[in-house]
Amino acid sequence: MEKLSKPDLARLLSIEDENEMEWLFDQAQKLKWQKSGNKVHLRALIELSNLCTQNCLYCGIRRDSDIERFTLEKEDVLNYFKAALKYNITSLVIQSGERRDKSFVAFIEDLLCSLMSLKNEVRITLSLGEQTKETYKRWYDAGARRYLLRIETTNRHLFDVIHQGCSLYEEKVKCLYSLKEIGYQVGTGVMIGLPGQTAEDLANDLLFYKTIDADMIGMGPYIPHFGTPLGKSFINSFDTQAKTKLVNLSLKMIACCRLLLEDVNIASTTALNTLDPEGFIKGIKAGANVVMPNFTELKYKKSYQLYEGKSGLTEFTLPELEKKLALLGETINYSDFGDSTHFTKKQCL
Ligand code: 5AD
Repeated sequence: MEKLSKPDLARLLSIEDENEMEWLFDQAQKLKWQKSGNKVHLRALIELSNLCTQNCLYCGIRRDSDIERFTLEKEDVLNYFKAALKYNITSLVIQSGERRDKSFVAFIEDLLCSLMSLKNEVRITLSLGEQTKETYKRWYDAGARRYLLRIETTNRHLFDVIHQGCSLYEEKVKCLYSLKEIGYQVGTGVMIGLPGQTAEDLANDLLFYKTIDADMIGMGPYIPHFGTPLGKSFINSFDTQAKTKLVNLSLKMIACCRLLLEDVNIASTTALNTLDPEGFIKGIKAGANVVMPNFTELKYKKSYQLYEGKSGLTEFTLPELEKKLALLGETINYSDFGDSTHFTKKQCL
């Protein structure tokens, strides 16, 4: 739907009536089926390291957080990847706290080469934050093909408040364009429900995705981490009612994103599933088409708490997901890499 304007989007995001919400989710799911079929793509998520040089006010693994730090060995990553292959998952997401030192850049390059030689037919997504264009290019040459870098919010004031200068808006946008120029499938996204964020802000976020011509979207609710500067003031107000509202707002964002961007890949995120045990499924029903089961070992996952109560700590059960998807008329795609239709179409032009 090319013609959805900012006021249209803000209005849809403000829907409170249950029936109207269901209608919105239905429209989005139908459009998804029409544009990219009734398939859900799986990505094995590996949390590589919680070492982080950034100090974002919302994040549980920020530099100043007093947590036990870990970095996986290459062998660990290869083993988790092998475990994912047993489930026929051939797309991998490697996520980590942000580091730009030479040895980290080289470690990732070497890891990519090893993963590619283990199985050449694999799609690797990186989610390793802001880097130089040269670094992005090195990792692309080593085999990475997708990159996720959330803009977090397009409200400049809010962006500055939650980053306190550790990250600059213009830099992030520049990174996104560098990634596109190199040839990556580019993903971005925001946190939903940040303090002071309005429906207009969220509408602007969606329009930003369109402006930069994103191929993939990963966005989820902001969940206060009570040990962070931004999260600590929520300790008494983040109740069941607040959570339900936030889940609904996140689902409306997914649906609006589908209606606006049509053929991109949209993730049903871990954060959504943390607030609602049926979050993954509800996200798919509202227009998302990607789920990222976590393949990191429990002992490390425990130290990768970006926010309070982060889910996925128990073993992810694919048969259960498959059953639930079948009830929605959706199936898991095991026949190809599930590249973003939006990206594939551009390649054919
Ligand atoms: N709530 C929700 N998402 C968060 N992230 C970091 N901290 C939080 C939080 N408290 C998200 C950011 C980041 C991604 C890796 O995790 O959007 O880009």
